[in-house]
Amino acid sequence: MAETKTQSFVFPDKKRAGSDALDGENFIPTKKQQMLPAWEDPAAALAAARHEFGEHGGVNMSIEASATFTVMEPETLSRMFAGELGPDRDFFIYSRHFNPTVLNLSRQMAALEGTEAAYCTSSGMAAISSVLLQLVGSGGHVVASRALYGGTHALLTHFLPRACNITTTFVDVTDMEMVSNAIVQGRTKLLYFESVSNPTLRVANVPELSRIAHEKGVTVVVDNTFAPMVISPARLGADVVVHSISKFISGGADIIAGAVCGPASLVNSMMDLHQGTLMLLGPTMNAKVAFELSERIPHLSLRMKEHCNRALVFATRMKKLGLKVIYPGLEDHPEHTLLKSFANKGYGFGGILCVDMETEERANRLMHHLQNSTQFGLMAVSLGYYETLMSCSGSSTSSELNDGEKELAGISAGLVRMSIGYIGTLEQRWSQFEKALSRLQDSASFNKYN
Ligand SMILES: Cc1ncc(COP(=O)(O)O)c(C=O)c1O
Repeated sequence: MAETKTQSFVFPDKKRAGSDALDGENFIPTKKQQMLPAWEDPAAALAAARHEFGEHGGVNMSIEASATFTVMEPETLSRMFAGELGPDRDFFIYSRHFNPTVLNLSRQMAALEGTEAAYCTSSGMAAISSVLLQLVGSGGHVVASRALYGGTHALLTHFLPRACNITTTFVDVTDMEMVSNAIVQGRTKLLYFESVSNPTLRVANVPELSRIAHEKGVTVVVDNTFAPMVISPARLGADVVVHSISKFISGGADIIAGAVCGPASLVNSMMDLHQGTLMLLGPTMNAKVAFELSERIPHLSLRMKEHCNRALVFATRMKKLGLKVIYPGLEDHPEHTLLKSFANKGYGFGGILCVDMETEERANRLMHHLQNSTQFGLMAVSLGYYETLMSCSGSSTSSELNDGEKELAGISAGLVRMSIGYIGTLEQRWSQFEKALSRLQDSASFNKYN
């Protein structure tokens, strides 16, 4: 692609790529710009999305594994390079640009989030960093939640200031006044938060935050990794939704992937040959990975329902046992009513719960018994797997935050995050939990992992 001169396009757009309108700096965050498709619910939208059949009539799409694409006439190539023919009309150039299989998965992602367009990336961090770099230029300012996945927090705190002079003010996104005051009109480009925060499970008021940001001309980017199907941030006012597909959407703990869902103008700008972060930094998804994932999205709604169902049952029972449980489905959760007001109906309140064991030592002993004594789950980072995954966030996925930042984010040293799995029967799993807890209590006065 080194010799390419202009941009091909994939989604209908008023202006041809390469023009000023596709420069991320000029991306204007108004809902008018995003032609949101008719939409009822994520499962309905996925079923209504175009189904791609295989080349030989297969029920599944074929994998387009080619890095490069041939044409019948030499003029076609030059027309593609001139941006006249693009993937919207089934003309492809090179797979770091658009690939047909990745594009099909991206259509599913756009349907899932109810956005005009989407494109998939090699990881969740690739999606997040590409969007940030596209929308915020050198010297730009971001307002972000204090409670973010450790990698995103480190990107904003350390990497972007050093590499690009992009600075961030961290705020409590449940405090609307603080958010509003942190936005510097004309300088702040972006408001960034997680729909459900990792690991503290605070639920963001997406409609209100979007309203405040839009009033000041700021683009809203929401990481919806913790709540696919449950929350649809773009339908609630956000401009862009990012995902770590590596989690619930994949469901297999075997693939690292991500997605950017938003206006076609944004996706096109990210593929711009001169200015696009996806095109120029190249965080490309492999077509074989895209195929694998496209086979899993159709049962995401069923998986989410069972993750959420079990998380609610376990959280309720854990609380009855006197444990300090954090779960948005419990009435004592500070955003329980808020979440109920905008969650998609029938999915529940999320597949993750936290138990605060107060000290890291008690957290480690609980996890030890849950894995090694009763096989309730696995000690591992990540989430959305069919087995329960448990980690002590402060010393693992949030270890990038210093002690002060952890305190501000509400991460206690003994916080155990559990991504609740769905294999085995619910009662089998619950009895494993109860047994581990009684082992923990029995062993309290004995040595470390008795
Ligand atoms: C909320 C959240 N966003 C983004 C990421 C990064 O995704 P990936 O590991 O796919 O790069 C993670 C975890 O890794 C996460 O928990």
